Amino acid sequence: MVGVRAASLDTPALVVDVDVLQANIERTADIARAAGARLRPHVKTHRMLAVARRQIAAGAAGVCCAKTGEAEVFANGGIDDIFIANQVVGAAKLRRLRALAERVRLAVGVDHAEQAAMLDAAFRGADPLDVSIEIDVGQRRTGLAAAAAAAALARQVLDAPGLTLRGVYTHEGHDYAARDAADLDRIAAQAQRQMLDAAEAIRTATGSTCEVSMGSTPSLYNRRFLPGIDELRPGTAVFNDGSHANFLGHTDWCAATVLATVVNRPAPDRVVVDAGAKALTSDRRGPSILENSGFGVVVGRPDARIVSLSDEHGVLAAPDASAYAIGSVLSIIPNHICPCVNLYDHVYAARRGVVTDVWPVSARGQSQ
Ligand SMILES: Cc1ncc(COP(=O)(O)O)c(C=O)c1O
Repeated sequence: MVGVRAASLDTPALVVDVDVLQANIERTADIARAAGARLRPHVKTHRMLAVARRQIAAGAAGVCCAKTGEAEVFANGGIDDIFIANQVVGAAKLRRLRALAERVRLAVGVDHAEQAAMLDAAFRGADPLDVSIEIDVGQRRTGLAAAAAAAALARQVLDAPGLTLRGVYTHEGHDYAARDAADLDRIAAQAQRQMLDAAEAIRTATGSTCEVSMGSTPSLYNRRFLPGIDELRPGTAVFNDGSHANFLGHTDWCAATVLATVVNRPAPDRVVVDAGAKALTSDRRGPSILENSGFGVVVGRPDARIVSLSDEHGVLAAPDASAYAIGSVLSIIPNHICPCVNLYDHVYAARRGVVTDVWPVSARGQSQ
């Protein structure tokens, strides 16, 4: 496939523009450097070793994973510093975690005394496992909201022979709902202050050191970080997607597109492509500052809106369907690139529209 025009690939296909990707990787590294923070990109977005290696080459200290299986794939690929920013529960996973910790520098998330006790038991007799305590700064998913609760869990971790304390972490994902730049700035500042307070409460209560790790793409692009943030873990910034085009106001930083073929024009204002939920995911975007809302952004076709999806079909509302030749290929920016990448066995890397490489999505399906 190397050397062929991306537009001539069989569809649906996921294509990554290597120049946009590289610019995204370098911009992210620059922002982290300016913030005085270590960069640990979240590789759940791409699940590809080829991309992780570019991130490390640009200065990332290691990677962040969501799943034990992802971490194993990246460890097998030679990445030796991995933080699983998630709770790891269950006997089978704890056995795998212990084996993984023997070959890479590993840390995992924890936000409950019972998880900490299970991790401690699993690591008795081994080198202690680094853990980071998750703080809920507003997303209301996981994590401890109260600094006192975080300090109590830190005490338990420090008393556990199987564990050591690395610090606190959060995903300030509620910033995706920011109404505008001022609102994003307010959310980002509040999240940072809460993290710094939690870390300080732990240091005061235990006398231990405590790192602060945060990560989300909107707050990365806000670019304002308080002193004391040690680590940033952006994921989606590597590709960006329809949801980021929302607050960026443009699609120039969107590196990944799904190619889809027009298969029908059943009505004067309706076009059907061969990319449905199994090619794009059925994620929607929130209110958009771009005109083109729906199930993805159709590149270069501001009049078209992807109004519905079934498994294998994407239905576009377009004012003049006759402008879409059956057999022509459209490029669609997915709304949410992380689950979208996980739909593909491999991704076509392309430069100026020509395929330069084919990258396996090595951690595809590694959700255990
Ligand atoms: C724990 C954690 N850290 C970091 C990230 C990265 O966030 P984003 O993709 O907005 O950069 C996520 C995303 O879901 C996450 O769950």
